[in-house]
Amino acid sequence: MQNAALYCADPKKISDAKKLAAGLKLNLLTSPPLPANTLIMGAERLELSQSGEAGPVFVDFSSPQLLYRLSRVTIKKEAVARAVGLKKTKPIVLDATAGLGRDSFILAALGCRVIMLERSPIIAALLADGLRRAAATGQIAHIRQRMTLYQTESKLFKLESQAKPEVIYLDPMYPARSKKALVKKEMRCLRDIAGTDPDSDELLNWALTQEVIRVVVKRPRDAECLARRQPSFVVKSRKHRFDVYLKP
Ligand SMILES: C[S@@+](CC[C@H](N)C(=O)[O-])C[C@H]1O[C@@H](n2cnc3c(N)ncnc32)[C@H](O)[C@@H]1O
Repeated sequence: MQNAALYCADPKKISDAKKLAAGLKLNLLTSPPLPANTLIMGAERLELSQSGEAGPVFVDFSSPQLLYRLSRVTIKKEAVARAVGLKKTKPIVLDATAGLGRDSFILAALGCRVIMLERSPIIAALLADGLRRAAATGQIAHIRQRMTLYQTESKLFKLESQAKPEVIYLDPMYPARSKKALVKKEMRCLRDIAGTDPDSDELLNWALTQEVIRVVVKRPRDAECLARRQPSFVVKSRKHRFDVYLKP
């Protein structure tokens, strides 16, 4: 399902809203009723309305949950950090499925520079808005500085145009049968807006042809490997599995 509209809830933001609506090719609404999956530009932030009871989805890198996780985050504890090979040296990571940016944020908090790629213009707009607010939040502004976002299909991105990433990180949408992945409203929102990533096998095949040291794929613990390609090794966490492909 694609968004039909952008609603400007704050008259002071009307010129920003017009620009964004034009960029995303969305109808601009200035009064309710709002269809489900409407982007709402308010005084503080950009958010996406959800159908039913679920509240809006927005990117908040300073949410109490994320700040709590940040206060306890260590390379040893974070399976994703072990998977990307983070030690004293901090690899530059290309997150080719940035989504709502949480994995990127954790890697950046641990000291990696992260280049984030997101192909859905609407998800990328939510993410850009979260990054804008993070830059103005003293506690996390230094982390945000290590994160750069591009709205693009990853397979079209020219790696050599950037500080060379050493790791490509992939977290495509989990298969539909994984009900747990659908429980969180953010995941439902990603699915509604960005689809089910049916081309994730191709994305892995593309990643493996790039000049990087390793490729990491986040998967449900019991899912098949992407493109049926066996990884060099696996790092498991309580909820996920990270398939690590070392490049020769
Ligand atoms: C499951 S979400 C990623 C969640 C993310 N790791 C996080 O921590 O919020 C997958 C995202 O990857 C994006 N995506 C999938 N394939 C892509 C591709 N080939 N190029 C760019 N973005 C892609 C989707 O649009 C979706 O937003």
